[in-house]
Amino acid sequence: MAIGILLVGGFGTRLKPLTNQTPKPMLPIGGLPLTEHQLLAAKKAGINTVILATSYLSEVFTPYFGDGSKWGMKLLYAVEKEPLGTGGAIRNAAAMVGFADTSEDFVIFNGDVLSKHDIASQLSFHKECSADVTLHLIKVADARAFGCVPTDETGRVSDFLEKMDNPLTNDINAGCYIFNPTVISAIPEGKVVSIERETFPQLVKSGRPVFGYHEQSYWLDIGTPAALFKGSRDYVAGDFMAGSGTKVASGSLVTGGSSIGSGSEVGASCTITNSIIGDGVVIGDNCTVTGSFILHNSVISSNSEIIGKYISPTENLPISTQ
Ligand code: GTP
Repeated sequence: MAIGILLVGGFGTRLKPLTNQTPKPMLPIGGLPLTEHQLLAAKKAGINTVILATSYLSEVFTPYFGDGSKWGMKLLYAVEKEPLGTGGAIRNAAAMVGFADTSEDFVIFNGDVLSKHDIASQLSFHKECSADVTLHLIKVADARAFGCVPTDETGRVSDFLEKMDNPLTNDINAGCYIFNPTVISAIPEGKVVSIERETFPQLVKSGRPVFGYHEQSYWLDIGTPAALFKGSRDYVAGDFMAGSGTKVASGSLVTGGSSIGSGSEVGASCTITNSIIGDGVVIGDNCTVTGSFILHNSVISSNSEIIGKYISPTENLPISTQ
C-alpha cells in the first residue's frame, strides 16, 4: 500500500499573524486541524503510514498526533532543521522509509489544501498510466493567479507554466501528487529544492511520464485568512458547530458559520459571528466576536467587542478575513 507524506513545514507567511504560534496545517477547520482532515482522507484511501515533513514549529505536531495509533495509523516525523523546500522535504521524508528499497508509491499532500477528491482513484490512474508522477489537477475559473499544467488527450503533462496573463489552460496543480519511488532519487539530497519550480519541469523536459489526474470536487487552498475562514464556514455548512464539552450560555447567539473547539465556554448574552474559536477558550458575558480567530486557551473578558481580531493567550492583533 502507498505511503503518505504530508508537507507541513512551511512558514505560512500569508496567514500571519494566525501562524505566529500555530503552523498553518494545525489551524482548525470545523474544530479539527487541517492535517487531521488530511490524515482521515489518506486513511480512507487505504494509506496507513504517513510521514509528517515538519520544520517551522515542528514541536506543535507531535503532542497532538503522537504515533498515530489514535487514528489507527502509523505516523513518522521527518524534521528539517532548516526548511528544505517542497522537493527537499519529500526526499528527506521518503529516506525515513528507505525509498530506494521499496516498491510502494508515495502520495504527497501539500499540507494546506482541503480536498475531497478520490485519492484511491488517483492511485489507480497512476498505475494504469505506468506514470512516474501523477498530479491531481483542478480547473479554476481564472488561472492567472496560478501556474497552469497543460496535458495531452491521454492526460500526459506537456508543460509546467508559470503565472501568465493568458493561461493556456485553466487546469492547475491541486497539491496532491503520487510519486513512483524511483523518481525520488532524482531529487538532490540535503538541498533546498522546489518540486513545482524545479523537479516537475525537469521531469517533463527529460521525457519522463508525468500525468495529470483530473477531478473536479471540493477543493480549497487555505493559504490566506480569507480562505481559511471560507474553508471553516464551508465545513460548518450551517450556523455553527461546537466540539465536545463546549458550553454556550442561554441567550447567546453563535452564527455565520462559526466554529468552536472542545471544552470552551461562552457566557451569557454574547453574539459570535463568522469566527473561529479554538479549544479551552473562555468568553465572558455580553461579548461580541465577529470575523475573528481566537486561539486555544485564550480568555476574553466580559463586555468585550472583538471585531476582525486574532487573539491568542499572549497576542491581540488585527486581521482581515475579506
Ligand atoms: P506562505 O509562506 O504563505 O507561502 O506559506 P507556506 O510556507 O506554507 O508555503 P506554500 O503555501 O508554498 O507551501 C505549500 C505546502 O508545502 C504547505 O503545506 C507548507 O507547509 C509546505 N512547505 C513549504 N515549504 C516547505 C519546506 O521547506 N519544508 C516542508 N517540510 N514543508 C514545506
